[in-house]
Amino acid sequence: MRDDGIMPGLRAAALAVAVAFAAALALMVPGAAAAWELTKKGTVVSYDHRSLMIDGRREIFFSGSIHYPRSPPDMWPDLIAKAKEGGLNVVESYVFWNVHEPEKGVFNFEGRYDMIKFFKLIQEHDMYAVVRIGPFVQAEWNHGGLPYWLREVPDIVFRTNNEPYKKLMEEFVNRIVKMLKDANLFASQGGPIILAQIENEYQHMEAAFKEEGTKYINWAAKMAEATGTGVPWIMCKQTKAPGEVIPTCNGRNCGDTWPGPLNKTKPLLWTENWTAQYRVFGDPPSQRSAEDIAFAVARFFSVGGTLTNYYMYHGGTNFGRTAAAFVMPKYYDEAPLDEFGLYKEPKWGHLRDLHQALKLCKKALLWGTPSTQKLGKQFEARVFEIKDQNVCVAFLSNHNTKDDVTLTFRDKPYFVLRHSISILADCKTVVFSTQHHNQRTFHFTDQTVQNNVWQMFDEEKIPKFKQAKIRTRKAEELYNLTKDKTDYLWYTTSFKLEDDDMPFRRDVRPVLEVNSHGHSSVAFVNNVFVGCGHGTKMNKAFMLQKPMDLKKGINHIAVLATTMGMMDSGAYLEHREAGIDRVQIQGLNAGTLDLTNNGWGHIVGLVGEQKEIYTEKGMGSVTWKPAVNDKPLTWYKRHFDMPSGEDPVVLDLDPMGKGMIFVNGQGVGRYWISYKHALGRSSQQLYHVPRSFMREKDNVLVLFEEEGGRPDAVMILTVKRDNICTFISEKNPAHIRSWQRKDSQITAKDGGNLKPQATLTCPPKKVIQQVVFASYGNPEGICGNYTVGSCHSPRAKEVAEKTCLGQQTCTLPVSADVYGGDIKCPGTTATLAVQAKCSKRSPPGVPGAAAAQ
Ligand SMILES: *[C@@H]1O[C@H](CO)[C@@H](O)[C@H](O)[C@H]1NC(C)=O
Ligand SMILES: *[C@@H]1O[C@H](CO)[C@@H](O)[C@H](O)[C@H]1NC(C)=O
Ligand SMILES: *[C@@H]1O[C@H](CO)[C@@H](O)[C@H](O)[C@H]1NC(C)=O
Ligand SMILES: *[C@@H]1O[C@H](CO)[C@@H](O)[C@H](O)[C@H]1NC(C)=O
Repeated sequence: MRDDGIMPGLRAAALAVAVAFAAALALMVPGAAAAWELTKKGTVVSYDHRSLMIDGRREIFFSGSIHYPRSPPDMWPDLIAKAKEGGLNVVESYVFWNVHEPEKGVFNFEGRYDMIKFFKLIQEHDMYAVVRIGPFVQAEWNHGGLPYWLREVPDIVFRTNNEPYKKLMEEFVNRIVKMLKDANLFASQGGPIILAQIENEYQHMEAAFKEEGTKYINWAAKMAEATGTGVPWIMCKQTKAPGEVIPTCNGRNCGDTWPGPLNKTKPLLWTENWTAQYRVFGDPPSQRSAEDIAFAVARFFSVGGTLTNYYMYHGGTNFGRTAAAFVMPKYYDEAPLDEFGLYKEPKWGHLRDLHQALKLCKKALLWGTPSTQKLGKQFEARVFEIKDQNVCVAFLSNHNTKDDVTLTFRDKPYFVLRHSISILADCKTVVFSTQHHNQRTFHFTDQTVQNNVWQMFDEEKIPKFKQAKIRTRKAEELYNLTKDKTDYLWYTTSFKLEDDDMPFRRDVRPVLEVNSHGHSSVAFVNNVFVGCGHGTKMNKAFMLQKPMDLKKGINHIAVLATTMGMMDSGAYLEHREAGIDRVQIQGLNAGTLDLTNNGWGHIVGLVGEQKEIYTEKGMGSVTWKPAVNDKPLTWYKRHFDMPSGEDPVVLDLDPMGKGMIFVNGQGVGRYWISYKHALGRSSQQLYHVPRSFMREKDNVLVLFEEEGGRPDAVMILTVKRDNICTFISEKNPAHIRSWQRKDSQITAKDGGNLKPQATLTCPPKKVIQQVVFASYGNPEGICGNYTVGSCHSPRAKEVAEKTCLGQQTCTLPVSADVYGGDIKCPGTTATLAVQAKCSKRSPPGVPGAAAAQ
């Protein structure tokens, strides 16, 4: 322990460390590792270069991001409980200004926005909390969390040394801090919140704003500290965080890529350990394996990190219009808890085991003397040791991504798989290896076919220039008119063609060319649909170019421009634009006709939005007709009963194009099926409808379809997690984990010679109904898609079926004695891969599983 650089105000706490140190050592008997219960009285949170301290006692933290507005409140208790069960002791959330203050001075802290209720729930689960106030949060959230009305404040420039911005930011931060204080939620008051964040990833903004940026971030630190929360403040991605504010790392590999705070008196904290990659429309699936995450986390702790935060631990759903530009409703579905709050295996379980292993090593990690021993070019041992007390932990790392290796450490051999870290709890016993390996299925419900009757309301009133009240020479910027109340803005213009303007040749059709700032549009000429176009997240501007038919006399062009949400990152956010820009017609006899300054009319929003026909109240204000497929700009509705049971419910919108979803008046999100990614599929086909949006009978589903779709083929599905897998190699020390899980104590003398075992476990009340795949040899692939390798013992399936069918849980040996080794493959590390399907004990025969996703 160093005694320099302790926060001046916390000398007393620092002194207390010496005392707490002794007490903590006494606590560290095996099995008593989790002394995390919160005291109800006030708690002092302090830090030094080594760790954060709670009442002077060092602690390690496993934190997970769960954003309250991304799940309905009835899901919160289960999410928090599952986070705790997964070994977390901290839950983290941003605060989302634009949903809390949608209009200046008008506040909303109800329902999904009940921040206080969320933090109180964390406290009820005896966990700590981190509140990231921002108030700019990015977070793939509309406008990065900033309310639209901020853009209308005179002379405002966001996130720099700008008085109007600073004033409003300070008011909001003070309001949030006061609400949290009034509810006694800070640790200093006996609450769960141990850290608060101001600003967010400012470093690269600071570069854009130069000295004004530096002035601003210093001001932000002072302003935050003046609120008197009694807990430290953090700034993520701000290596030079001012004063006592702690900088933290965001990224994939903070253990390797981050040099740590510039001010060496501050600890290493990792606020965003990305559990996958968030996705926008147009993105192919993203996946970060459980092994890769575990590797990065183990690495971070091995270089002295003491807090990691999984971003996200549960992503949830961007309901309604809350997503940032192009971001899909489904958010971080690959996180340890998926969009529906179900365990995402093997990620959830693998990380739980990692947390358990690291907790066992807490004493060495927090008080041991660190050292590094090179064991080869890509191999090393990092050790934390208190010599005279026999306290030691070692991290053996293999950074080679292709080859497994046997490393000799303190005279003993350890087999370390490629790209993995083995944790040796006493510098001898392997308690965890980061390398190692349920898939969901979706089932039709009766509701898909029963009463599958759709009605429609045609948003057909394609407006003409004469009907528009807002008229200007050139098309106006979109956000300026929609004010983020709707995604939609009509642009219209009319022009006259003489006979000799028309193309000479009848087979040549003139082409409409509409340039847009973003994000998508649908064009009509003389009430006829001519086509759609869209930009991408990376390149929002785009050109729509479509052939059309024109006539002699007056012609009318109408373009419905759409935003996919407001941008959530970068400097000068207040100036980002959407909507149409230059418009031309090509292929006329006279050449190109430029309509850019032709005079444009604007109509904000849709008729269906103005009348709120997606609500039960507004529904009656228009006449609904029997539905017809493949019509652009159409509202569709049908009634349905809630599927029985408790499994999560999703809509399969594959037959649709692009638009919005409402259930009983609540916005479920924007859908976009027609935008295919490079692999030829849509980024999100299934959309989560929380059960709390529904009642038992007679729910109303409303879709607004922009491009044309087939609503009668929309399916209502339920989600099950009943595919389970195991993937274990003969020499993989992971078997010790499953054994360790049972009594959560280490009793093995040596990690070297235990027989590996593979365990398969179904969800509660289910049994293994089928062994879908089994191979002993060198199988490849991921759960749901294993393939047989060049070595394969066919007996594996037979053994697995015999041992596992009808069981809720079963254990299989990983050994050539049992399956018969493949003599053709000497020297290969043999691996057992099994995929099984769980179901309720009742016989199969239910309508089949649909897609796997
Ligand atoms: C370094 O961090 C310490 C502890 O938070 C703080 O008191 C000190 O002011 C910081 N030094 C600088 C130069 O910012
Ligand atoms: C976070 O976790 C991921 C796995 O999800 C891991 O790959 C990454 O290295 C970790 N670190 C950071 C900084 O995100
Ligand atoms: C938005 O409207 C304001 C005033 O109505 C105008 O000054 C400003 O230039 C407009 N912005 C854009 C990008 O058109
Ligand atoms: C399954 O795995 C094989 C090879 O491992 C791969 O070629 C194929 O694309 C995978 N299929 C899916 C659906 O992931």
